[in-house]
Amino acid sequence: MCGIVGYIGPEEGRDILMNGLARLEYRGYDSAGIAMVGPDRRLQIVRCEGKLSGLQYKLNDNPVTGTVGVAHTRWATHGRPSEVNAHPHRCGPFALVHNGIIENYAALKEELEAEGQRFESQTDTEVIVVLLDREWRRVKEYKQAVRNTLKKLRGSYAVVIVNEQEPDSLVAAKKESPLILGLTESAFFLASDVPAILPYTRQVVYLNDEEVVFISREGYSIESLPDGAQRSPKPHQVDWNPIMAEKAGYKHFMLKEIFEQPRAVIDTFRSVVDLERKEVNFPELNLDKDLLNKIERVFIVACGTSYHAALVAKYMLEGLCRIPVEVDLASEFRSRDPILDDKVLLLVISQSGETADTRAALKEGLDKGAYCRAIVNVVGSSIARMAQGVIYTHAGPEIGVASTKAFTTQLVALYLLAIHWAAETGRLPGKSIEQYIQDLIELPGKMEKILSDTTRVTAWARKFKDFKDFLYLARGPLYPIALEGALKLKEISYIHAEGYAAGEMKHGPIALIDAEMPVMVLLKHGPLYEKMTSNIQEVKARDGIILALIEGEPSEIVGPAENQLVIHPASEWLSPVLFSLPLQLLAYHVAVLRGTDVDQPRNLAKSVTVE
Ligand code: F6R
Repeated sequence: MCGIVGYIGPEEGRDILMNGLARLEYRGYDSAGIAMVGPDRRLQIVRCEGKLSGLQYKLNDNPVTGTVGVAHTRWATHGRPSEVNAHPHRCGPFALVHNGIIENYAALKEELEAEGQRFESQTDTEVIVVLLDREWRRVKEYKQAVRNTLKKLRGSYAVVIVNEQEPDSLVAAKKESPLILGLTESAFFLASDVPAILPYTRQVVYLNDEEVVFISREGYSIESLPDGAQRSPKPHQVDWNPIMAEKAGYKHFMLKEIFEQPRAVIDTFRSVVDLERKEVNFPELNLDKDLLNKIERVFIVACGTSYHAALVAKYMLEGLCRIPVEVDLASEFRSRDPILDDKVLLLVISQSGETADTRAALKEGLDKGAYCRAIVNVVGSSIARMAQGVIYTHAGPEIGVASTKAFTTQLVALYLLAIHWAAETGRLPGKSIEQYIQDLIELPGKMEKILSDTTRVTAWARKFKDFKDFLYLARGPLYPIALEGALKLKEISYIHAEGYAAGEMKHGPIALIDAEMPVMVLLKHGPLYEKMTSNIQEVKARDGIILALIEGEPSEIVGPAENQLVIHPASEWLSPVLFSLPLQLLAYHVAVLRGTDVDQPRNLAKSVTVE
């Protein structure tokens, strides 16, 4: 996720572009840049690593000026945060900003390099601008060169282009990444999101996938990329205030991030799955077949929500790859002198890539000669740099303190690792890798369905918000989801909640159950279903209140239908993603009703870096 802005109009554009970026910083903030066509019709480009303030500082020494330009605030996906990887990228007369992931960039880059093209960055974006320059030299016509270029791209993009040869123009296009066109009497704006342009206009055209917009000072035209048909969408009048707009109309970042999950999951698998060939490749993981065959044990180490993802991974890796897995809290692992050697894979998981205990655990692994890999959301973070290989989740910046989309994208990355590992070592049970990938492709649609109807969860929140304690019970790969549901509730609503493996109930916690104790059970069809229904009977016998997330359809055994929420069937390895969503929503709505600060709960900061 990155933020992009474009401007063409009568005013000096620099401050408009910089203001726009400032309002999009929540979309990315590891590097930034601006390109303007100057009065001499030459491109002026300033870029820098780090936050927007760094770019502002640099612009004081290298002022740019003009009335046409583009700007970008980056959240790295390909290539670490650095000035050279920052946008805009330039080739020939073009400078371009991009938000999205070009899936076939490696093949395109190879083709262009074979023709003698040189690249200065490690980004997928530079490939687009180099391709555009090549097409333009071939066909000698700007619009046609743009069309030819876009047609070669697979994946997602929102791009905005400035061109020295046609200095009074902006060209933009989108596919599966957001892009809007803002209009006034005399100016045109392009942006990833509404907040960037709200100070200037509320007249907005929401561009559709595979539409290209050509803008001059006089007007604009929109055409469909596949067939060239002209489009004339009616502009919308935006009625959000700037704060609402930053959260895309959601009341809190946490809610926005909960609803972003289907998209984040797609971005995560898209970055490593070739959807046409149904293959998984982890370009930055450095874990080839020979190495996978050498590994005898796996340790997965993390903190908090990432630790819960690690617990799910134990079921996945042991179930699918038949490799023994130990899971540890980083704070414990780092201080217990773990037994590691060169037959061990140490996999650490961290959204931020900065958590001190997880960093220390990784260092322990490196010092003891284990193979050390990481699953990280923040490209270029400390853990990403220390590890010998990385899988990136593509959740985008997580602004709300409570981890939501980072968790579900970690689950997806771990699932992909497990099926890749099992396929490479010839141990994949049951289905072919194509079928496992097909299951994943169907996941975002099922997530959308759960998120599209939140009536039951909000009713539960209203009914149970004043209870003092909650219990969450599950078995198998859903057990860590019970832990995660309880963590979410306590973290943001300050209600005491415990997650338990349902089979452990009789060993103590059952004593707590009475009519004051809502018990959330996670029920999935399969070998553990009957055992779970016995646990439900035990709770009912003690007057406990059962709330259930149940796969398929409601069951009388559980109790009244209004206490049950149906979850779409999915494979045992992907159900944890689906069951997580209502639990996140429940925690969120309870917290809102109790009036807590959802995005910044007390005593918590986003990344715990204290040693
Ligand atoms: C809970 C939460 C935390 C983090 C934990 C680890 O909602 O956000 O429990 O999961 O602090 O953080 P990372 O994954 O950044 O290492």
